[in-house]
Amino acid sequence: MAGKKEKVVLAYSGGLDTSVAIQWLAEKYNVDIITLTVDVGNPKDFAAAREKALKIGALKAIVIDAKEMFVKYFIWHALQANALYEGQYPLATALSRPLMAKLLVDTALEEGANSVAHGCTGKGNDQVRFDVGVHALAPHLKVLAPAREWGMTRAETIAYAHKRGIPIPITKKSPYSIDECLWGRSIETGVLEDPWVEPPADVYTWTKSPDKTPNKPAYVEIGFEKGIPVSLDGQEYDGVTLIQRMNELAGDHGIGRIDHIENRLVGIKSREIYEAPAATVLLQAHQALEAMTLSKDQMRFKQKVAIEIADIIYNGLWFSAQNRDLAAYIQSSQRYVTGTIRTKLFKGSAQVVGRTAPKSLYNLSLATYDKGDKFDQSMSVGFIHIWGLPVVTQSQVQLLGDTEGPLSIIAPKKQLKKTKTAPGKPARKPNRSKQEQGKG
Ligand code: ARG
Repeated sequence: MAGKKEKVVLAYSGGLDTSVAIQWLAEKYNVDIITLTVDVGNPKDFAAAREKALKIGALKAIVIDAKEMFVKYFIWHALQANALYEGQYPLATALSRPLMAKLLVDTALEEGANSVAHGCTGKGNDQVRFDVGVHALAPHLKVLAPAREWGMTRAETIAYAHKRGIPIPITKKSPYSIDECLWGRSIETGVLEDPWVEPPADVYTWTKSPDKTPNKPAYVEIGFEKGIPVSLDGQEYDGVTLIQRMNELAGDHGIGRIDHIENRLVGIKSREIYEAPAATVLLQAHQALEAMTLSKDQMRFKQKVAIEIADIIYNGLWFSAQNRDLAAYIQSSQRYVTGTIRTKLFKGSAQVVGRTAPKSLYNLSLATYDKGDKFDQSMSVGFIHIWGLPVVTQSQVQLLGDTEGPLSIIAPKKQLKKTKTAPGKPARKPNRSKQEQGKG
C-alpha cells in the first residue's frame, strides 16, 4: 500500500540502547516500530517498559510473559542434559535468545512486519543467537541490528538520547552490562574487564556474600520426575515457581557465583560473572540423581552429549537438527531419573547429602561391607584374571623391556639389582637405547 510505512518488530529491553534504537531505526529506515518485550523471569517493570516504548515513539508495544515456555522448552532441556558451557556457565542468557527469536518471528508474522531488530552489538554471542534463530524460523525476515551499525560510543548514545528527549533512567546507571532471566544473571564490563580484579560486592544482587549468609545450613529436598524438578520439601510447584524459590533460597546462602573467562563464538575471550543459584543447585542435584539411576555407560556417554549440547546452545544453534536429535536421546535417558535429592546449603556451597530413587541401581546387598552382603568375593579372582589378561600378556612380551617413558618404571627393579649405583645416579646412561635405535 502506497504511503504506508513498513513495520519492524524490535526486541525491547527498556534499556538505553534499545530505547535509542526505536528512534534511530524509525529515522534511518523510515519505518514504524513495534516493540516486543519478553518476560523470561527478569525482575523488571514490564508495564513501565511498555509505557516508555510508546512514549519514545513506538507504534505498538507488546509484552509477552514467556516464563512458562522458557522453563518447559528451554531450561528443562538444558537441565536434563546437565549443560554447562566450558564446565562453568549454565547458559542463562544463551537459552533465552532462541525463545526471543521465536517470539520476534511470531510477532512479525502477526503484525505483518518484514523485519525484526535487536539491540546486540557486533562483538558478542547474542547477535549470533538472534540472527541464526530468526533466519532458521523465517528466512524471509530481515534482521536489523542498530547497535551493530550505528558505531556510537556509550557517551554518544546518551547524547543522542538527550537530543531527542529519549528518557534515560535517572537512577545511577550500573557500571556493568547485565542480562537476567530465570536461569541466572550475567554481568560483564567495567572493572570486570580486568581479569585480575576480584569482582566488587556491587556486582552481585541475587546472592549474598558467604560472610553474610546464615550461620546455620538449610536443607532442601528436591523431588524429580523423569529428570525434571517438581517439588521442594514434598510440596509440588510449577517449574517457574520452583526455580524462583530455589533462586531465593540458594541465593540467600550465597550459592551460584561463577567467575568465568569464557571463549566467545566470535573469537574473543571475555570475563563474565554469573549468578545462578537455582541452576547451580538443580544441576548438581540432577546429576546426583542420575548417579543413582543411570548405568556407568549411560553416564559416561551422557557427559559427552552434555558438552555437545552446551556448545550448541552457546553457539546459537538451538534450532538445529543436531539439537533436536540429541534432545531425543536426553529425553530417553531420563525415564528412570525420578526420586528425591537432599541438599545442604551453607556458606556459598551446596552439597548433596542424601538421595533416594524408586528405580535406583544402587543395591545395598551388593555394596555393603556389613551383614547381608550378597556379593560373592571369590568370583573376583576369575574376573580379575581375565580382565587383566591383555595387560599381563603385553607387559611380558613388550613393556618389561621399556627403558624410556613413564612405563619404564616397570623395568628398573631388575636393573637396580644388577648394577649397584649410588643413590641419585642413574643405573645406566639415560639415552642409551635411543643411540642403539639410531644405530639399528
Ligand atoms: N556471555 C554470556 C553469553 O554469551 C552472556 C551475554 C550477555 N551478558 C551481559 N552481561 N549482557 O551467553
